[in-house]
Amino acid sequence: MSHLIAPSILSADFANLQRDLEMINKSEADWVHVDIMDGMFVPNISFGFPVVHAANKHSTKPLDVHLMIVDPDRYLKAFKDAGAANITVHIEACTHLHRTIQTIRDLGCSAGVALNPHTPVAALEDIIADIDLVALMSVNPGFGGQKFIHNTYKKIKELKKLAEYNNPGLFIEIDGGVDITNAAKLVDAGANVLVAGNSVFSSPNQLSAVAGLKHAHLMHKA
Ligand code: DX5
Ligand code: ZN
Repeated sequence: MSHLIAPSILSADFANLQRDLEMINKSEADWVHVDIMDGMFVPNISFGFPVVHAANKHSTKPLDVHLMIVDPDRYLKAFKDAGAANITVHIEACTHLHRTIQTIRDLGCSAGVALNPHTPVAALEDIIADIDLVALMSVNPGFGGQKFIHNTYKKIKELKKLAEYNNPGLFIEIDGGVDITNAAKLVDAGANVLVAGNSVFSSPNQLSAVAGLKHAHLMHKA
Protein backbone atom coordinates (compact mmCIF):
# COMPACT_ATOMS: atom_id res chain seq x y z
CA MET A 1 0.00 0.00 0.00
CA SER A 2 1.29 3.38 -0.85
CA HIS A 3 1.52 5.95 1.90
CA LEU A 4 -1.40 8.21 2.79
CA ILE A 5 -1.51 12.00 2.63
CA ALA A 6 -3.46 14.02 5.20
CA PRO A 7 -3.52 17.77 4.47
CA SER A 8 -3.92 19.75 7.69
CA ILE A 9 -6.69 22.33 7.57
CA LEU A 10 -4.92 24.33 10.29
CA SER A 11 -3.26 26.08 7.33
CA ALA A 12 -6.47 26.43 5.33
CA ASP A 13 -8.26 29.75 4.80
CA PHE A 14 -10.99 29.52 7.44
CA ALA A 15 -13.11 32.08 5.63
CA ASN A 16 -13.02 29.74 2.63
CA LEU A 17 -12.99 26.39 4.34
CA GLN A 18 -15.54 24.86 1.99
CA ARG A 19 -13.40 25.83 -1.00
CA ASP A 20 -10.26 24.39 0.62
CA LEU A 21 -12.05 21.15 1.52
CA GLU A 22 -13.27 20.84 -2.05
CA MET A 23 -9.64 21.14 -3.16
CA ILE A 24 -8.80 18.25 -0.79
CA ASN A 25 -11.79 16.25 -2.11
CA LYS A 26 -10.50 16.66 -5.65
CA SER A 27 -6.89 15.93 -4.73
CA GLU A 28 -5.03 12.67 -4.18
CA ALA A 29 -5.23 13.19 -0.42
CA ASP A 30 -6.52 10.28 1.65
CA TRP A 31 -7.57 11.91 4.93
CA VAL A 32 -8.20 15.43 6.23
CA HIS A 33 -6.07 16.22 9.29
CA VAL A 34 -7.92 18.29 11.88
CA ASP A 35 -5.85 19.94 14.65
CA ILE A 36 -7.64 20.74 17.90
CA MET A 37 -5.71 23.00 20.32
CA ASP A 38 -6.96 24.12 23.71
CA GLY A 39 -4.48 26.81 24.75
CA MET A 40 -3.43 24.58 27.68
CA PHE A 41 -1.71 21.51 26.31
CA VAL A 42 -0.26 23.71 23.57
CA PRO A 43 0.17 27.49 23.55
CA ASN A 44 -2.43 28.07 20.87
CA ILE A 45 -6.17 27.71 20.30
CA SER A 46 -7.43 26.47 16.94
CA PHE A 47 -11.14 25.69 16.60
CA GLY A 48 -13.85 23.47 18.05
CA PHE A 49 -16.85 21.27 17.34
CA PRO A 50 -18.88 23.55 15.01
CA VAL A 51 -15.91 23.82 12.66
CA VAL A 52 -15.22 20.07 12.74
CA HIS A 53 -18.88 19.42 12.07
CA ALA A 54 -18.91 21.88 9.15
CA ALA A 55 -15.70 20.38 7.75
CA ASN A 56 -17.21 16.92 7.90
CA LYS A 57 -20.25 18.11 5.98
CA HIS A 58 -18.09 19.20 3.05
CA SER A 59 -15.38 16.54 3.14
CA THR A 60 -15.61 13.31 1.17
CA LYS A 61 -12.53 12.02 3.02
CA PRO A 62 -12.22 10.72 6.58
CA LEU A 63 -11.41 13.25 9.30
CA ASP A 64 -8.17 12.46 11.15
CA VAL A 65 -8.65 14.40 14.37
CA HIS A 66 -5.53 15.26 16.38
CA LEU A 67 -6.39 16.36 19.92
CA MET A 68 -3.77 18.65 21.45
CA ILE A 69 -5.85 19.09 24.59
CA VAL A 70 -5.53 18.15 28.26
CA ASP A 71 -7.72 15.33 29.54
CA PRO A 72 -9.19 14.43 26.13
CA ASP A 73 -11.59 11.86 27.66
CA ARG A 74 -13.99 14.74 28.31
CA TYR A 75 -14.58 15.27 24.60
CA LEU A 76 -14.10 11.96 22.76
CA LYS A 77 -17.79 11.39 22.11
CA ALA A 78 -18.31 14.99 21.03
CA PHE A 79 -15.55 14.64 18.41
CA LYS A 80 -17.01 11.35 17.20
CA ASP A 81 -20.40 13.06 16.89
CA ALA A 82 -18.78 15.97 15.02
CA GLY A 83 -17.50 13.52 12.41
CA ALA A 84 -14.11 12.15 13.48
CA ALA A 85 -13.04 8.88 11.85
CA ASN A 86 -9.70 8.71 13.67
CA ILE A 87 -9.09 10.25 17.06
CA THR A 88 -5.49 10.76 18.17
CA VAL A 89 -4.66 11.74 21.74
CA HIS A 90 -1.31 12.77 23.20
CA ILE A 91 0.41 10.28 25.47
CA GLU A 92 1.55 13.28 27.56
CA ALA A 93 -2.08 14.31 28.14
CA CYS A 94 -3.53 10.97 29.25
CA THR A 95 -3.28 9.52 32.75
CA HIS A 96 -5.18 6.33 31.81
CA LEU A 97 -4.19 5.94 28.18
CA HIS A 98 -5.40 2.35 27.89
CA ARG A 99 -8.90 3.36 28.97
CA THR A 100 -8.88 6.34 26.62
CA ILE A 101 -7.93 4.12 23.67
CA GLN A 102 -10.66 1.66 24.59
CA THR A 103 -13.23 4.47 24.68
CA ILE A 104 -12.17 5.72 21.24
CA ARG A 105 -12.54 2.23 19.79
CA ASP A 106 -15.85 1.62 21.53
CA LEU A 107 -17.11 4.78 19.82
CA GLY A 108 -16.24 3.12 16.49
CA CYS A 109 -13.26 5.34 15.69
CA SER A 110 -9.67 4.39 14.94
CA ALA A 111 -7.43 5.16 17.90
CA GLY A 112 -4.16 7.04 17.62
CA VAL A 113 -1.48 8.10 20.08
CA ALA A 114 0.72 11.14 19.44
CA LEU A 115 4.22 11.58 20.86
CA ASN A 116 5.87 14.94 21.37
CA PRO A 117 9.41 15.24 20.00
CA HIS A 118 10.96 14.57 23.43
CA THR A 119 8.84 11.50 24.26
CA PRO A 120 10.64 8.22 23.55
CA VAL A 121 9.03 5.61 21.30
CA ALA A 122 9.67 3.04 24.06
CA ALA A 123 6.84 4.66 26.06
CA LEU A 124 4.46 2.88 23.65
CA GLU A 125 5.71 -0.62 24.42
CA ASP A 126 2.68 -1.71 26.47
CA ILE A 127 0.03 -0.07 24.30
CA ILE A 128 1.35 -0.66 20.78
CA ALA A 129 -0.80 -3.75 20.15
CA ASP A 130 -4.00 -1.90 21.05
CA ILE A 131 -3.80 1.13 18.78
CA ASP A 132 -4.33 1.88 15.09
CA LEU A 133 -2.02 4.84 14.63
CA VAL A 134 0.99 6.58 16.14
CA ALA A 135 1.56 10.23 15.30
CA LEU A 136 5.21 11.15 15.70
CA MET A 137 5.36 14.90 16.18
CA SER A 138 8.16 16.23 14.04
CA VAL A 139 7.69 19.74 15.45
CA ASN A 140 6.63 20.90 18.90
CA PRO A 141 2.84 20.95 18.54
CA GLY A 142 0.95 24.21 18.56
CA PHE A 143 1.60 25.89 15.23
CA GLY A 144 1.75 25.19 11.53
CA GLY A 145 4.72 26.08 9.36
CA GLN A 146 7.50 25.11 11.78
CA LYS A 147 10.84 23.53 10.95
CA PHE A 148 11.05 19.72 10.78
CA ILE A 149 13.01 18.07 13.62
CA HIS A 150 15.58 15.67 12.22
CA ASN A 151 15.55 13.22 15.16
CA THR A 152 12.18 12.03 13.80
CA TYR A 153 13.91 9.64 11.37
CA LYS A 154 15.43 7.74 14.27
CA LYS A 155 12.04 7.54 15.98
CA ILE A 156 10.34 6.20 12.84
CA LYS A 157 12.85 3.36 12.67
CA GLU A 158 12.40 2.57 16.37
CA LEU A 159 8.63 2.60 15.99
CA LYS A 160 8.74 0.36 12.94
CA LYS A 161 10.77 -2.11 14.92
CA LEU A 162 8.45 -1.94 17.93
CA ALA A 163 5.38 -2.51 15.74
CA GLU A 164 6.92 -5.21 13.54
CA TYR A 165 5.50 -8.20 15.44
CA ASN A 166 2.84 -6.64 17.65
CA ASN A 167 1.10 -4.41 15.13
CA PRO A 168 2.36 -4.71 11.55
CA GLY A 169 -0.62 -2.77 10.15
CA LEU A 170 0.08 0.28 12.32
CA PHE A 171 -0.29 3.70 10.72
CA ILE A 172 2.95 5.59 11.34
CA GLU A 173 2.00 9.23 10.86
CA ILE A 174 4.45 12.12 10.71
CA ASP A 175 3.10 15.50 11.73
CA GLY A 176 4.95 18.79 11.30
CA GLY A 177 7.27 20.33 8.76
CA VAL A 178 6.58 17.73 6.07
CA ASP A 179 7.26 18.92 2.52
CA ILE A 180 8.56 17.70 -0.79
CA THR A 181 12.18 17.79 0.44
CA ASN A 182 11.67 15.18 3.18
CA ALA A 183 8.57 13.19 2.12
CA ALA A 184 10.41 10.41 0.25
CA LYS A 185 12.96 10.01 3.00
CA LEU A 186 10.22 9.73 5.63
CA VAL A 187 8.45 7.02 3.63
CA ASP A 188 11.76 5.22 3.12
CA ALA A 189 12.30 5.23 6.88
CA GLY A 190 8.88 3.61 7.44
CA ALA A 191 6.28 6.39 7.64
CA ASN A 192 2.97 5.56 5.94
CA VAL A 193 0.91 8.69 6.67
CA LEU A 194 2.22 12.19 5.97
CA VAL A 195 0.44 15.22 7.42
CA ALA A 196 1.09 18.47 5.59
CA GLY A 197 -0.31 21.90 6.33
CA ASN A 198 1.91 24.73 5.27
CA SER A 199 3.56 22.93 2.35
CA VAL A 200 0.17 22.25 0.76
CA PHE A 201 -1.76 25.44 1.54
CA SER A 202 1.07 27.90 0.85
CA SER A 203 1.64 26.34 -2.55
CA PRO A 204 0.43 28.22 -5.63
CA ASN A 205 -0.80 24.86 -6.91
CA GLN A 206 -2.27 22.97 -3.97
CA LEU A 207 -3.45 19.99 -6.02
CA SER A 208 0.00 19.35 -7.37
CA ALA A 209 1.54 19.91 -3.93
CA VAL A 210 -0.64 17.04 -2.65
CA ALA A 211 0.22 14.92 -5.69
CA GLY A 212 3.91 15.64 -5.18
CA LEU A 213 3.76 14.31 -1.61
CA LYS A 214 1.70 11.30 -2.70
CA HIS A 215 4.19 10.31 -5.39
CA ALA A 216 7.38 11.55 -3.74
CA HIS A 217 8.46 8.02 -3.01
CA LEU A 218 8.15 6.87 -6.63
CA MET A 219 9.90 9.93 -7.98
CA HIS A 220 12.66 9.34 -5.48
CA LYS A 221 13.11 5.73 -6.66
CA ALA A 222 12.94 6.55 -10.36
C1 DX5 B 1 1.16 21.09 14.70
C2 DX5 B 1 -0.03 20.38 14.09
C3 DX5 B 1 0.19 19.97 12.69
C4 DX5 B 1 0.31 21.11 11.73
C5 DX5 B 1 1.27 20.69 10.67
O1 DX5 B 1 0.87 21.37 16.01
O2 DX5 B 1 -0.32 19.19 14.83
O3 DX5 B 1 -0.78 19.05 12.23
O4 DX5 B 1 -0.92 21.48 11.14
O5 DX5 B 1 1.52 21.80 9.93
P1 DX5 B 1 2.81 21.99 9.02
O6 DX5 B 1 2.73 20.93 7.95
O7 DX5 B 1 2.59 23.36 8.51
O8 DX5 B 1 4.03 21.85 9.89
ZN1 ZN C 1 -1.61 17.64 13.84
